[in-house]
Amino acid sequence: MKDYPFLKACRREPTAYTPIWLMRQAGRYLKEYRALRRKYSFLEMCKNPELAAKVTLQPVEKFKLDAAIIFSDILIPLEPMGVEFDFAKGEGPVFHHPLRQMKEVEKLRMIEPEEDTSFLMKAIRIVRKELEGKVPLIGFSGAPFTLASYIVEGGHSKSYVLTKSLMYQDRPTWDALMEKLSEVLIRYLNAQIRSGVQALQIFDSWVGCLSPHDYEEYVLPYSKKIIEGIGRSVPVIHFATSHSTLLGLMRRAGGDVIGVDWRVDIGEAWGRIGYDVAIQGNLDPVALLAPVDLIEKEVKRILDCVKGRPGHVFNLGHGILPNTPVENVAALVEMVHEYRSK
Ligand code: CP3
Repeated sequence: MKDYPFLKACRREPTAYTPIWLMRQAGRYLKEYRALRRKYSFLEMCKNPELAAKVTLQPVEKFKLDAAIIFSDILIPLEPMGVEFDFAKGEGPVFHHPLRQMKEVEKLRMIEPEEDTSFLMKAIRIVRKELEGKVPLIGFSGAPFTLASYIVEGGHSKSYVLTKSLMYQDRPTWDALMEKLSEVLIRYLNAQIRSGVQALQIFDSWVGCLSPHDYEEYVLPYSKKIIEGIGRSVPVIHFATSHSTLLGLMRRAGGDVIGVDWRVDIGEAWGRIGYDVAIQGNLDPVALLAPVDLIEKEVKRILDCVKGRPGHVFNLGHGILPNTPVENVAALVEMVHEYRSK
């Protein structure tokens, strides 16, 4: 188990080639996924351990990826807390009762992940059995800020006005919400480790909307608490987008690997974060829609930026797009494995 290139790179040990996996690698760009999706809703698939396991395995069976990520969603632990939502067709998540007041936060329940999200723990155990000796399995959660933004806004937001207003105008409620989410996430992530995941990724996808000062003041203590609360037995990837001004602070919050999007030069970002942590990224997912020679140019550029330094996990800068051609994914994986940077 110790010799998986992905886990070695997370520990900044040298590997024979650069390991690669892709955010949202199980999903709509795969015809095998779309075929199942015609029969089941997205949440039905998440909550059925056999289906979730099957979908998790689809991309690793099809491509020579170096890790699997369990099929689920960052919103899954919210339902047992008492937060109701649906996925509206083509719109993403919609929350029926956005939450903005202390009395609503007080009603949120603590979760017992082994019972409340037993389907996920079972899916993890199934996948681990299937993958033994092949590739490691990554578990994940949202970070408290990104989850709070969905709960408070009632769905996806462009401006985060409601989330930031709560933060600025009602600090006790903000702190109570972040505190509760942190406690839930510590339990949820540790339960995933006990079920068998070999690495964890924490998605703070929308935290890039904050100033460095606000990140440090309102978010960092909670993200730090979670990462410190995870048993140190598995590496933690701390990911965000649009966060070039937050890199130093995110690193301070913790993580063995910092995930970066395409908006930064990965070599420069690594220098700023420090070479005592690993880095993950950072191909623009839109590049995967282009002809293979463009993809190749981008892959070489990224690999040249990190100069073969141990501790780089290749990934996209954000999730793979539904209209990505599968042959481009196969070509990408091959290129990353074969290219030796100068
Ligand atoms: O990476 C993987 O393959 C594992 C599975 C995974 C999903 N969501 C499956 C999914 C992971 C790691 C996530 C994380 C997630 N979910 C994030 C953080 C990553 C990011 O993209 O920033 C966020 C913000 C969510 C919330 C979410 N889930 C949204 C906004 C949406 C709708 C947008 C969309 O892409 O359709 C989802 C739905 C979702 N999660 C799908 C998948 C495969 C599409 C569902 C479908 O089949 O219709």
